[in-house]
Amino acid sequence: MHAVRDPRIDFFENLAKHWDRDGQSPDETVERVGQLADLLSLVPGQTILEVGCGTGQLTGWLAEQVAPGRVVAIDFAPAMVAQAQAKGIPAEFRIADVCQEAPGLRCYDLALCFHSFPHFRDRHAALLNLGRALKPGGRLLVMHLCGSAAINAFHTGVGGAVAGDHLPDAAEWPPLLDAAGLKLVSLTDRDDLFLMEAVMESGPGD
Ligand SMILES: C[S@@+](CC[C@H](N)C(=O)[O-])C[C@H]1O[C@@H](n2cnc3c(N)ncnc32)[C@H](O)[C@@H]1O
Repeated sequence: MHAVRDPRIDFFENLAKHWDRDGQSPDETVERVGQLADLLSLVPGQTILEVGCGTGQLTGWLAEQVAPGRVVAIDFAPAMVAQAQAKGIPAEFRIADVCQEAPGLRCYDLALCFHSFPHFRDRHAALLNLGRALKPGGRLLVMHLCGSAAINAFHTGVGGAVAGDHLPDAAEWPPLLDAAGLKLVSLTDRDDLFLMEAVMESGPGD
């Protein structure tokens, strides 16, 4: 039996070409995240997984922060990855679905879902795969440059394939994370920032 194709793939494929022009500009993304850099605790030498990298608006900045470490950036929409690759960013880009496969095993210091987590159709599977990909003690960050109420309302307003793509409620995070061997460290949800940080305690079978 064939799995049903996630309708969000086509949704984002269709947006890829004009993503940097029609949405938040890459410069604004880097400027705003740069102002919050202390919260991310990026350290030279780290290996980072960026999940749902889109056109790579943040990828180059991440690579700069962790050099000589490395960034692996994944997205399941090939057109998004193509846009990102065309920028010549020093990172490894892959077409991959985080709900379907672990993007590596115990090899990342940090997994960052920037403006992407609500779109993961199976959040249990995504967290399990991210948990497998993180080193013990590795961190997971889910980040948005606005609060959850605004994100959820925005996706409802956009409609179509992403209409129901909402962030988990505060009470939903601990059990979701626990099931993947992750532990909630902090949750910030204010008008200008959503930031969930979790740490990988152990993996299934550890
Ligand atoms: C709102 S966009 C954000 C892109 C980029 N992070 C940015 O801020 O410009 C969400 C991205 O997540 C990707 N995505 C959604 N579900 C995914 C999944 N299951 N696996 C990998 N990527 C996914 C989409 O293709 C899209 O590029």
